[in-house]
Amino acid sequence: MMYNSRIAGLGKYVPENIVTNDDLSKMMDTNDQWIQERTGIKQRRHIKKGDGNTTAKMGVKAAEIAIERAGITVKDIDMIVFATLSPDYYFPGCGVQVQHLMGMDTIPALDVRNQCSGFIYALATADQFIKTGMYKNVLVIGSENHSGGLDFTTRGRSVSVIFGDGAGAAVLTREEDSNKGVLSSHLHSEGEHALELALEGPSTNKWVPEIIEENPQENIPYYPYMNGQFVFKNAVVRFAEVINEGLAKNDLKTDDIDMLIPHQANLRISQFVQRSFKLSDHQVYNNIQKYGNTTAASIPIALTEAWEEGKVKEGDLVVLAAFGSGFTWASSIIRW
Ligand code: UT7
Repeated sequence: MMYNSRIAGLGKYVPENIVTNDDLSKMMDTNDQWIQERTGIKQRRHIKKGDGNTTAKMGVKAAEIAIERAGITVKDIDMIVFATLSPDYYFPGCGVQVQHLMGMDTIPALDVRNQCSGFIYALATADQFIKTGMYKNVLVIGSENHSGGLDFTTRGRSVSVIFGDGAGAAVLTREEDSNKGVLSSHLHSEGEHALELALEGPSTNKWVPEIIEENPQENIPYYPYMNGQFVFKNAVVRFAEVINEGLAKNDLKTDDIDMLIPHQANLRISQFVQRSFKLSDHQVYNNIQKYGNTTAASIPIALTEAWEEGKVKEGDLVVLAAFGSGFTWASSIIRW
């Protein structure tokens, strides 16, 4: 017997520390107007040294809320799928930490490394385990601690103003009605462009001594690199493609979309997608203004807020879509 899966509970957690564009302009040559015009971002959250937050711990806080809202307990979770590009450790991943921190049985914990598309990849993975009947409740988390690893000098400004910290979580649960829940997911990759948005070192390809040797006078540059305009141009094309793919698979039209939750990469990208599909404002949810780009956490944070605001209701057609480093891109079509 094949089952469906549906999102039974959602939660989010963001650090308390708010960093405005003006705060950033004290650290580097940037300004509120540039950041708002190019990205829509007004502020973001950054973990503060000593506040106890890590990628795994923020994930746990979001997960606790999602589990409670799903009306189940930690003991009911059969598997953890954790999406992040900023794990607490190089290895092991954050999934096993969640298993330990939440006092779970020795359930499987899987980390997903798909950056901005990470949450949809994680959701699709969880969905498959539920569809086949292997598991009933899967905890899906997206969480990022970007602020610790960004270059807050002028050199890094085109990347560091964009990203923020936070976590979102969903409990995916077995659904017997095949017309309800995750109807389909669509996943893609194009590794040819892997280094257009990447953190190259430290890695097994570029160990720390090598980086220091190459840059003896400078700060050691293990900061992310992004070819912003190239990424932007690919993003708008792939977002549209993967949304269309999902709609076509389910014989749906853009009019059928009740809520599109795009990965919060840049408000300009979301607006471009909205215009190209001729969607009205109430059909698209954006909160990048408050949180910046939180990579794997952005979709579950946005979905949680949309749900909390009553904008995602039973019977609604919800579309999730993402594009990012890899390149990877993905969509998920959900009947709520
Ligand atoms: O989530 C994963 C996927 N990520 C994305 O989809 C992001 C896609 N890309 C973008 O969102 C945009 O490309 C950025 C927001 C990153 C950059 O915006 P842009 O309009 O592409 O700007 P640019 O990189 O072409 O830079 C324009 C100018 C440059 O100055 P000159 O050469 O024209 O004098 C930059 O040096 O803006 C300058 N600049 C800044 N100025 C003030 C770059 N960053 C900043 C800054 N503050 N923070």
